[in-house]
Amino acid sequence: METLTPAKRNECLVFAVNGEKFEVPNLDPSTTLLEFLRSRTRFKSVKLGCGEGGCGACVVLMSKYDPVNKQIENFSMSSCLTLLCSINGCSITTSEGLGNTRDGFHPIHQRFTGFHASQCGFCTPGMCMSLFSALVDAEKTSRPESSPGFSKLTVSEAEKAIAGNLCRCTGYRPIADACKSFAADVDMEDLGINSFWRKEDLNEVRASRLPTYHPKNHNCTYSEFFGEENQSDMLLNSELYSWYTPASIEELQTLLYPNVSENGMKIKLVVGNTGTGYYKETEKYDKYVDLRYIPQLSVVIKDNSGIVFGAALSISKVIFSLKEENEENLSSEGKLIFTKLADHMEKIASGFIRNSASLGGNLVMSQRNNFPSDVATLLLAVDSSVSILTGHDCEKITMEEFLSRPPLDSRSVLLNVHIPYWKQTKSNGTIESNSRLLFETYRAAPRPLGNALPYLNAAFLADLSCNKSEVLVNNVRLAFGAYGTKHATRANKVEEYLSGNLVGVSLLNEAVKLVKSSVVPEDGTSHAAYRSSLAGSFLFEFLFSFIEIDYKIFAHGLDNTLREEAEIINNSNLLLSSGKQFVDSSKECYPVGEPMTKFGAAIQASGEAVYVDDIPSPPNCLHGAFIYSTKPLARVKGISFKSNSLPDGVTDVISSKDIPKGGENVGCTAMFGSESLFVDDLATCAGDLIALVVAEAKKHANMAAKTALVDYDTESLDSPILTVEEAVKRSSFFEVPPFLYPEKVGDFSEGMAEADHKILNAEIKLGSQYYFYMETQTALAVPDEENCMVVYSSIQCPEFAHIVIARCLGVPEHNVRVITRRVGGGFGGKALKAMPVATACALAAHKLRRPVRIYLDRKTDMIMAGGRHPMKITYSVGFKSNGKITALHLDILINAGNTIDISPIMPNNIIGALKKYDWGSLSFDIKVCKTNLTSKSAMRGPGEVQASYIAEAIMEHVAGMLSIEVDSVREKNLHTYESLLLFYGSASGDSMEYTLPSIWDKVARSSSFTERVATVEQFNQLHIWRKRGISRVPIIHEVLVRPTPGKVSILWDGSIVVEVGGIELGQGLWTKVKQITAYALSSIQCDGTEELVEKVRVIQSDTLALVQGGFTAGSTTSESSCEAVRQCCNVLVERLAPLKKKLQEQMGSVKWDDLILQAHHQSINLAAHSFFVPMPSSQQYLNYGAAVSEVEINILTGETRILRTDIVYDCGQSMSPAVDLGQIEGAFVQGIGFFMLEEYITNTDGLVVSDSTWTYKIPTIDTIPKQFNVEVLNSGHHRNRVLSSKASGEPPLLLAASVHCATRAAIEAARKQRNSWGALDETDSTFQLEVPATMPVVKQLCGLDTVERYLQSLVTCNGT
Ligand SMILES: Cc1cc2nc3c(=O)[nH]c(=O)nc-3n(C[C@H](O)[C@H](O)[C@H](O)COP(=O)(O)OP(=O)(O)OC[C@H]3O[C@@H](n4cnc5c(N)ncnc54)[C@H](O)[C@@H]3O)c2cc1C
Ligand code: FES
Ligand code: FES
Repeated sequence: METLTPAKRNECLVFAVNGEKFEVPNLDPSTTLLEFLRSRTRFKSVKLGCGEGGCGACVVLMSKYDPVNKQIENFSMSSCLTLLCSINGCSITTSEGLGNTRDGFHPIHQRFTGFHASQCGFCTPGMCMSLFSALVDAEKTSRPESSPGFSKLTVSEAEKAIAGNLCRCTGYRPIADACKSFAADVDMEDLGINSFWRKEDLNEVRASRLPTYHPKNHNCTYSEFFGEENQSDMLLNSELYSWYTPASIEELQTLLYPNVSENGMKIKLVVGNTGTGYYKETEKYDKYVDLRYIPQLSVVIKDNSGIVFGAALSISKVIFSLKEENEENLSSEGKLIFTKLADHMEKIASGFIRNSASLGGNLVMSQRNNFPSDVATLLLAVDSSVSILTGHDCEKITMEEFLSRPPLDSRSVLLNVHIPYWKQTKSNGTIESNSRLLFETYRAAPRPLGNALPYLNAAFLADLSCNKSEVLVNNVRLAFGAYGTKHATRANKVEEYLSGNLVGVSLLNEAVKLVKSSVVPEDGTSHAAYRSSLAGSFLFEFLFSFIEIDYKIFAHGLDNTLREEAEIINNSNLLLSSGKQFVDSSKECYPVGEPMTKFGAAIQASGEAVYVDDIPSPPNCLHGAFIYSTKPLARVKGISFKSNSLPDGVTDVISSKDIPKGGENVGCTAMFGSESLFVDDLATCAGDLIALVVAEAKKHANMAAKTALVDYDTESLDSPILTVEEAVKRSSFFEVPPFLYPEKVGDFSEGMAEADHKILNAEIKLGSQYYFYMETQTALAVPDEENCMVVYSSIQCPEFAHIVIARCLGVPEHNVRVITRRVGGGFGGKALKAMPVATACALAAHKLRRPVRIYLDRKTDMIMAGGRHPMKITYSVGFKSNGKITALHLDILINAGNTIDISPIMPNNIIGALKKYDWGSLSFDIKVCKTNLTSKSAMRGPGEVQASYIAEAIMEHVAGMLSIEVDSVREKNLHTYESLLLFYGSASGDSMEYTLPSIWDKVARSSSFTERVATVEQFNQLHIWRKRGISRVPIIHEVLVRPTPGKVSILWDGSIVVEVGGIELGQGLWTKVKQITAYALSSIQCDGTEELVEKVRVIQSDTLALVQGGFTAGSTTSESSCEAVRQCCNVLVERLAPLKKKLQEQMGSVKWDDLILQAHHQSINLAAHSFFVPMPSSQQYLNYGAAVSEVEINILTGETRILRTDIVYDCGQSMSPAVDLGQIEGAFVQGIGFFMLEEYITNTDGLVVSDSTWTYKIPTIDTIPKQFNVEVLNSGHHRNRVLSSKASGEPPLLLAASVHCATRAAIEAARKQRNSWGALDETDSTFQLEVPATMPVVKQLCGLDTVERYLQSLVTCNGT
């Protein structure tokens, strides 16, 4: 093996990736590891999902020599934030380095495949690396060796390993199973459906079927290029890269304070560089100074006074040391403090960030930029101090002083942090005391396990003296942070108020009020009142257990103290997810009906699967980035740049002026018309595309687009329309073609006349949702001969992009070819919204005669995307005293944004899903409003998810009015087959197909619904601060089957190539197509047809090879593609049959391969094409399902945990049960996002401000149902369906309304209780719970002042 000379290492950046050595002679020091890997190596498994450290798609394993411990350390980190220069001398492993097609896959890849844990696959390599790093960590422990096939990892660690990784497709449960399958303590019964074993297999058999894993064989080793003896020479100090790695404080000082001529230099101190995930870099620096190799900055020193942590230590190492400290001889209080500090720090960011994020970097960001830090709050509470080096002066100051000083100068260095040991004070004589030190930390964040900044964090340290009945506060430190304040602060007034006093209800009541008036966010902070109220909740939680003893009996005979309650919760939540899956596989049409693994899952896991941005850039390729309007309605007069000329590296700025002669300014087309590509003159929404900056490098294009100055003019323009109310006022609507407008049912006035009760003009408002596909919009356009253009696009409807590109360029359609292999998640967002991206790319490539590629950054994508339609609903409903509804009328105003898109389909979709109940009579007035917001498009279950929810909200309103159980109201209003026919007409199918009533009962049985309703009731009586709710919800979802083409070709060796109109988005379309191809061709009945499925390859969609591909949307493209393929196969079988008969007569039996060879020799046409057009009578059909969800809310914080969900969903006869199960779970979790978490917020101009992983929170593994049971019902035969199968892509998303309804039930219990404390305001049981029901929303409804109310009620009752 080649070794390097030490001298060379100093000058040149050298590192290894997957065992290959790289020497990089010159480089911009701001280059990240991800940029390098993706653009200059063949390793594309590191995906760019966010560039912020917030998604985990780019995780790699870093191996480096630790000079302190003199050993190699391995840890995961995000490659999107790591600077390339900082990995000098290190070794990197990516997912394709673990295993790949050529060398064989790693057991991680194999298990991800076998547990069906990869759908679109874009998140999968990052997931695999997070798991791999956890396995490596576990091996370092002194735990006993694991049994064969397993590791030292625990189940809980396995789940937490992926807590910071986002997946938008799977719903996480199968990923968790794949991870848990490596854990030594896993219960095999808990592992879900997989391709390794059958249900009936014993546990020992199951274990033996898992792909073999031997930790020793599968651990990566530090690259052999770097010998340990030469580590000191590995420090990169090079003017070439402007990168310096001082090895001592003296060297650092020389670098920071060089001679006078260099005084104006811009210097950047770096450690992990994770800060750039939050503060995006727009500046250029002259010098980068890496602080990690100065010994004083990486020390852990323990002495009598406390511990000193070097500022460059990673947060992970600090956590490790704090925990390690606990194992030594510390006082119990000291241990308590360190344990709590470590536990809290484990909720900061995610493992792969904590591993490189430094303690000092965090504190400096907090001090200098007001970053909402957890670390600062924790350290403030325990009276830490910091040492700072400025010039040659080193000073030690308290954390308090550090935080309150003016921002640290860019050349000042934070050297270390000192955390003192704490011991309780001695008895002060006031009380015959038993002194005790109490320390607690708090954090309320949208996701419990981190990677979510908190709304508020706090840490409290109290020195208390206790005797039998009284508790005296000797001293207390109360630190709060991250609530919209400059930095963490102490609530001094409250501290003073409490100190020297006995803890009592009145004291606490006053203290809570005082703390709420002290912890006040700055103007403009979101959820300000909520954050202040959290401060009260935390203080209450901290101190109340000391007085609860006295009040426990009084307080409604409660069994548990607050602390005990918390413990119960924590213990019950050891596991983040578990579940049972029930699927029926059928052999009747083998291999159709088999729960096969997803086609391509292994290469998705290893990262070899090629997405558009993985296609290597052709020579001369340029990169594009959009400039978009930030004004909702304004004339665009021009674009300029600060320098007045084009910025560095920028080649051109393409706008509507560049549309070629004969071309059109068109960027999108669909059934309701076309839309412009670029703003012509007038921008009509914030997010409208103004121009495309084209540059030599992506970084340059992005930077130029961000810093471009757009000259707007709004003179004499009307004010923009941003709300539906304004649209109504100004009659701004899109037309809905009459044939698409749904029909009313019955007569509303007659229905109202029958009613005993009425609700009139009640209102609901629903917001938007962002797709959050992991792969943002992307395209690559390559000019070809004779004015032709090949465009690789990540799109759900290549055919339409093809048409638009041809029109835009003014060329015939046969000059354009759009190729789509796979899409890294679509969810509707890569249908119309992908067209302008592909078209802009093609336009730029056409003008510049060079290839151009675009891969949108997350922010631009979030701003342009549009997302789900917001709407305002006003309803009037009439009902009988028993809950039977007799009439419903709705007025719905849909906010469609600035262009028509697919919005006219919304009324039909809404009414289609709303009709799931028998409303007696149903009438409506639906308007599609044209506003100056970004155009809304179809998002998974468009209109249907909102409607399904509206129906439930009405049920709850009715039940609330009648004070009866909402479940009984739901049941009373379920359709009979007769009413179903009335509402849905022929889409209802025959009566046997109406499975909802049986599903409704089945889910009640499988979830023990009735018993659990009683248990929930009991729980709520016994617990004050936690309330539970349970809810059962049905769905009916109508789908439409559309025409789709297919083509099957059989090659000489008997292998088969299939092309279909449908696009593989992760939904498993290719898998189903493979299965049906094998099934249909096997009807030829040759030897070897059982293995046909292995011979089938489905290939990319190419709009010139297969025309009329249409849209992949509406949940039915898989089945229609399957039917098209089946028709092709039938033709081929028919052509082959005479030959087969002849051969059989000659030889007795015929092998598939021989038959095909002969057929080729005899010139039989072995390619068949079809275009499946569904019969009008069976084009539409209904899907049914029901779910029961149980949640628990925390009244103090507003947090909701989903304890359990049970789903029963009718898939007809599933063609691929594992695929359908994945769709059901994934859709449901996406629905949880809509109902519970995802706030897609705009500013007053309509510009999206939830524009990053920091502000937009999709579900992670810690927010899914803790127990998630799904039954894929095989409801038998549906004559008119493709092999009796039904859709699974969208309908299950609607079931997530059950979580929202359960949350509402829990809140209702909380509100009832609050009323019993003498709340003066009338609590209305018909209150509405907003969507999404985020923590602030839940808390608000439970009462921001609940704590005070409770304490006041105690004061009043007890006279204290
Ligand atoms: C996705 C994500 C989630 C996060 N979530 C949380 C969270 O929940 N809670 C929380 O508290 N934090 C959170 N953080 C912040 C994280 O802790 C910090 O980004 C990290 O600690 C910074 O350390 P670093 O080594 O990467 O700093 P760098 O990015 O290298 O530096 C940050 C800044 O500090 C300066 N600097 C660094 N070290 C020193 C020093 N010793 N002396 C002087 N200046 C210095 C640098 O010049 C730079 O200006 C999160 C970060 C990410 C990316
Ligand atoms: S791309 Fe690095 S964490 Fe998202
Ligand atoms: S499979 Fe995880 S994002 Fe698609």
